[in-house]
Amino acid sequence: MANENKLQAIISHCKEYGFVFPSSEIYDGLGAVYDYGQNGAELKKNIKDYWWKSMTQLHDHIVGIDAAIFMHPTTWKASGHVDNFSDPMIDNKDSKKRYRVDHLIEAYAEQLAPDASAALIQSMEQLIAADDFAGLKNLIDTNNIKCSVSGTCNWTDVRQFNLMFGTQLGSVAEESSEIYLRPETAQGIFVNFLNVQKTGRMKIPFGIAQIGKAFRNEIVARGFIFRMREFEQMEMQFFVRPGTQQEWYQYWKEARMQWHLSLGISPNKYRFHDHVKLAHYADAACDIEYDFPMGFKELEGIHSRTDFDLKNHQQFSGKKLTYFDTELNQHYIPYVVETSIGLDRTFLMLLSEAYQEEDLSTEEKQDARVVLKLPAMLAPYKLAILPLLKKDGLPEIAKELMAECRGSFKCFYEEKDAIGKRYRRMDAIGTPFCVTIDHQTKEDGTVTIRHRDSMLQERVALKDIKQIVLNAVQY
Ligand code: GAP
Repeated sequence: MANENKLQAIISHCKEYGFVFPSSEIYDGLGAVYDYGQNGAELKKNIKDYWWKSMTQLHDHIVGIDAAIFMHPTTWKASGHVDNFSDPMIDNKDSKKRYRVDHLIEAYAEQLAPDASAALIQSMEQLIAADDFAGLKNLIDTNNIKCSVSGTCNWTDVRQFNLMFGTQLGSVAEESSEIYLRPETAQGIFVNFLNVQKTGRMKIPFGIAQIGKAFRNEIVARGFIFRMREFEQMEMQFFVRPGTQQEWYQYWKEARMQWHLSLGISPNKYRFHDHVKLAHYADAACDIEYDFPMGFKELEGIHSRTDFDLKNHQQFSGKKLTYFDTELNQHYIPYVVETSIGLDRTFLMLLSEAYQEEDLSTEEKQDARVVLKLPAMLAPYKLAILPLLKKDGLPEIAKELMAECRGSFKCFYEEKDAIGKRYRRMDAIGTPFCVTIDHQTKEDGTVTIRHRDSMLQERVALKDIKQIVLNAVQY
């Protein structure tokens, strides 16, 4: 399937099967804001649990926290977001449409031959790195890049726009102060660095992980849940001795790539992209990119953030944020290596991998199915329990199996419709196993288990079902 069609197919599938809906759809939706439906919420939660377990439970020196979305306004001064968290934008004077400059140039570059495209992107990256806005405008003009709405090249100058959402804290206008919805979860970790270090008696090197909402007023939000205004991040800040940050940066690059491969996705669907323009806080940075239906795009960032954040919070708060290293007998501000992955982008990656339209036609009849080949451990439901008929004691046996399994993993029970139809519905939401209870079950205690990906059916003992599923979904 062509890639642009695949994204459209995924969007429709998500809506039809309760994964993702446009936000407040009855009012025609809200740009780049989405709601997760009953199956989407389960899948999202399973991704979070998988990340959380690998970061905290399976790592000796990482603990997790859950900080508030609202933070003291000075946080964002100290972090540099008030002054630096902006993107260069340009407006088309005819259509009044506003573009992020890098998106405008990238979209144009995609239509060029590979060499010309690479040269253009390289020039753009150098100009962005040098904050050369006049140069960027010149690049757009000399390439005759047009607005997709008006079709003209009538552009304003390139300007910076801050991406943070501001709001008021306090009920009385005169007494209220402006605060921001956090644009990243990382700062909740930095301001709690000493709280966690002291109460958890943590020794460097150690990490603090967090999953939570972040908000950015993205001017050009596109690509379904790829670029949203309200999204979730799974971030981890790893605090290390100054001077060891390069070592740990390499360690986390490798460790995070291994995590991605553990999802069963082929290595050639991922690549590293080293940053030319470093964020205001970083001394090294790269992205892990995934080959989305729209092409290779950022999925996760790995950043060596130096001591920038802790040093600035110490300066702005007037509170000491140093660590005493007993082995070195020294006080210092730790350096930080961060891993930051978008939960919604991980969700989109998994759907991009899982979504398949299969032609099952034979000489006798035409047939097809849509199946989500999700990793079993992440699927919204692990097991569908399907009595063949609504009578003859079959539902009773099925409900006993349900009672036995539901405490260990999520099960779906259904009595209605022909069994083939029920299988197809389970394929469409990615349920890895279906079990059918039939009359033979009453005679010999066996059931049919059907495997989602191969569609193979086999006869196994009813008493073994729970363990079969557990073996496939535990991690
Ligand atoms: N604390 C570092 C940080 O926030 P980032 O590269 O700006 O770094 C990290 O964001 C990750 O968050 C990205 O790799 C991406 O997966 C996700 N992300 C960022 N902006 C997003 C948006 N508007 N919608 C969805 N996910 C987003």
